[in-house]
Amino acid sequence: MSGPYPDDLRAAVDAYLAELRFPARAAAVGGLEEAMRYSLLAGGKRIRPVLALATARALGIEQAAAMPLAAAIELIHTYSLIHDDLPAMDDDDLRRGRPTCHVAYGEDVAILAGDALYAEAFKHLLTAGLAAGVPAEHLLVAAAELADATGVDGMVGGQYLDVTAEKALAAPATGAAVPGLATAEDLRVLHELKTGRLIGASVGCVLRIAGVDDERAVALRSFAADLGVLFQVVDDILDVTGTDQDLGKPRGSDERHGKRTYVTEYGLEGARTMAAELHDAASTALRSVVPSVRAQDLHTLTAFIHTRTN
Ligand code: IPE
Ligand code: IPE
Ligand code: MG
Ligand code: MG
Ligand code: MG
Repeated sequence: MSGPYPDDLRAAVDAYLAELRFPARAAAVGGLEEAMRYSLLAGGKRIRPVLALATARALGIEQAAAMPLAAAIELIHTYSLIHDDLPAMDDDDLRRGRPTCHVAYGEDVAILAGDALYAEAFKHLLTAGLAAGVPAEHLLVAAAELADATGVDGMVGGQYLDVTAEKALAAPATGAAVPGLATAEDLRVLHELKTGRLIGASVGCVLRIAGVDDERAVALRSFAADLGVLFQVVDDILDVTGTDQDLGKPRGSDERHGKRTYVTEYGLEGARTMAAELHDAASTALRSVVPSVRAQDLHTLTAFIHTRTN
């Protein structure tokens, strides 16, 4: 990976995920678990769970209390990647440096592996979170926020905007209305939903678990919102400037599908300028959080997300 990173938190996440096993009763579903773990343990950057643990550290809560949430978020992120790569979606055959889940296990099993990761994420958050001593009412509001961030008003809604915009752009002659993707504001909304909300939840759900009231959370939530959009702007840039080997996924996927991205809209330099502005806005919001907060890992992650090459 490029640039400084909270490596201790990443190692903790990797070790925890490696221990997770899914079937408790039906041994015959071992093949499904194999496909889930194939994608989960393929070596992603773990930005979302590391962000959750860095937020816990900043707030002074135990790592063990935030780990079930951190893991649940990575399970959901992995499911989103498996489905994003399917032939009906981005049709990509490389992910995290390996053949994608559907290439390795078939489309039917890959779809089910994604479905199962989503359900297991909530099961894990609720059962392991409770066992770690998180108050049930805090867990419930965290789970509700995670569901909201990944549902229609969140990641899946964003993926819907992404694929429907692609179809509308591919067939402009039909005169069909392009569903809401005409302005710069709409592109920001697409990025906020498809990527920003899950990254936002990696901070927001920790605030819920810690029982931080909404008033105290404003600056951290504003930080997380800018960080989430920054992440996807950089992803768009890397789709043009990266290499398959660095990225562990095929460069040029967006162009192949005629996606509307920050690069197609503003050019490479324009997208880089916007990334710098988002980085500054996120950093400023983070600095405005009360000084007692131990935010060093969050600053490190913010810089990493801006300057990463993978
Ligand atoms: C890729 O996310 C998918 C997007 C939301 C753009 P990451 O770049 O975090 O992927 P991994 O987890 O490191 O593989
Ligand atoms: C996908 O965005 C965001 C998800 C919700 C998975 P992309 O399609 O740009 O992600 P990559 O570039 O394939 O990782
Ligand atoms: Mg996609
Ligand atoms: Mg994709
Ligand atoms: Mg991309």
